Amino acid sequence: MADQKVSDTAISALIEAELGREGPLLPILHSLQTRFGHVPEAALPLIAEALNIGRAEVHGVMSFYHDFRTQPVSGPVVKICRAEACQAQGGRALEAEVAARLSGATVEAVYCLGLCANGPAAMVGDRPMAAATLDKLAAEVAR
Ligand code: FES
Repeated sequence: MADQKVSDTAISALIEAELGREGPLLPILHSLQTRFGHVPEAALPLIAEALNIGRAEVHGVMSFYHDFRTQPVSGPVVKICRAEACQAQGGRALEAEVAARLSGATVEAVYCLGLCANGPAAMVGDRPMAAATLDKLAAEVAR
């Protein structure tokens, strides 16, 4: 399992680095995902203990925010907006096209990237894209 490669020491160091922040749970989760590409399952009890909250609360926040994933992904992550404006501009069709033709990429949903007037909107890694097309996304993935 990929989680076995992530040591508790590395997880704890990232948790410790964010503890001084106000409302540290989200910064901790972001930090872990940035570092490991996902929030390892092993981190959840360590986070709960460090923040003196229940594991259920950590799970609840993890599942509320679609951005956090509990499993590593392989290949580039392409996020396609599923919010209403982008749906009206072909977001679902683009998502299906990308899933079928961009092999190796992981396609995830995102809900509004603030590019509603120029949909469908997408992201490759942390780079947002307006008026996304399969060709534009493929070019960005290849970069
Ligand atoms: S609805 Fe897709 S970017 Fe806002």
